[in-house]
Amino acid sequence: MVCFRPITDENVKITRQKEKLPLIVEEQKVGSGSYNIVYNAVAKKSCGKQSGNKYIFRRSKDAIESLKVFKQEIKMAVRMAKLKAGPEIYKVGLDKNEKSFILMEHYPSSLRKAIETKGKRPRWKEIEKELKKAIYKMAEGGIFCSDLKFRNVVARRQAAAGAAKWEMKLIDFGDDFCSFSENIYLPQKNVKNFISKNKNKVDLTDLLYCSMMIMMSINSERTRTRFYGNDKPLFSSEIKSMPLDVKISALLLIGKGDSKTGMRKPISQARHYYPKPLPNTDKIYEILTGETLKK
Ligand SMILES: Nc1ncnc2c1ncn2[C@@H]1O[C@H](COP(=O)(O)OP(=O)(O)O)[C@@H](O)[C@H]1O
Ligand SMILES: [Mg+2]
Repeated sequence: MVCFRPITDENVKITRQKEKLPLIVEEQKVGSGSYNIVYNAVAKKSCGKQSGNKYIFRRSKDAIESLKVFKQEIKMAVRMAKLKAGPEIYKVGLDKNEKSFILMEHYPSSLRKAIETKGKRPRWKEIEKELKKAIYKMAEGGIFCSDLKFRNVVARRQAAAGAAKWEMKLIDFGDDFCSFSENIYLPQKNVKNFISKNKNKVDLTDLLYCSMMIMMSINSERTRTRFYGNDKPLFSSEIKSMPLDVKISALLLIGKGDSKTGMRKPISQARHYYPKPLPNTDKIYEILTGETLKK
């Protein structure tokens, strides 16, 4: 019997899980954030060929406040999985206490943990390469998130053809920090109108890509200085090489961007993670590229 298949329907129905899932969920948690606790899980014998397969079981700490909010998160997570930018999603629902759960593809740890593990640390160049790929796909998928950081990246080593290669995927799409592009306002204008009025025709994917590279980079500065002090800030040259109008729009989105679905101002995340004051987005650009943006 096949118990779990990847979900491909972004609008999958969210229901109360009545029967017990054929899973053994470990008691020891593997990770947690502000909203969720995450455990390893193994498929039971009754799952036939899948028995013994490892999964990740994520449960919300509290009962969900709004089904609409959870639906948006699932829609993003399923889209990310289909784009191969996020882990596969196998099962979603609510438990008897109205807590939400997601059963997803297993990764051994977050990128943050992988970096802390001596000896196995991925090279900075590898992190840049893998994350650039994932963030670009996310941008193509019309998703913007400001809480991009190494704790919201899962990583595993693939020992292919002798050379160990890292595979990295993005996770965690809560509505506080993530929005679909159609709901983003810059600051009062819908992002699509803003772009079409811009005489240099900023491309939406480029705009999301550039803004998210900046967010991932500034949110990772603390970890970089601690573990990779000799390397430049993440995506430094890639950010610098984006067209000027894309960069200006990206900084506007970070500083003033708003969403109909309640997303917080992205710059508030950067201020939360960066250890020194960030008076404005121009300062963020300076820190990441070593240059002043000439407008
Ligand atoms: N698929 C996964 N594989 C491995 N670890 C995971 C996975 N999903 C989440 N985690 C771990 O659990 C932590 C919390 O999960 P996350 O979805 O970010 O919840 P929160 O919204 O509370 O931040 C992550 O930082 C990561 O360490
Ligand atoms: Mg998280």
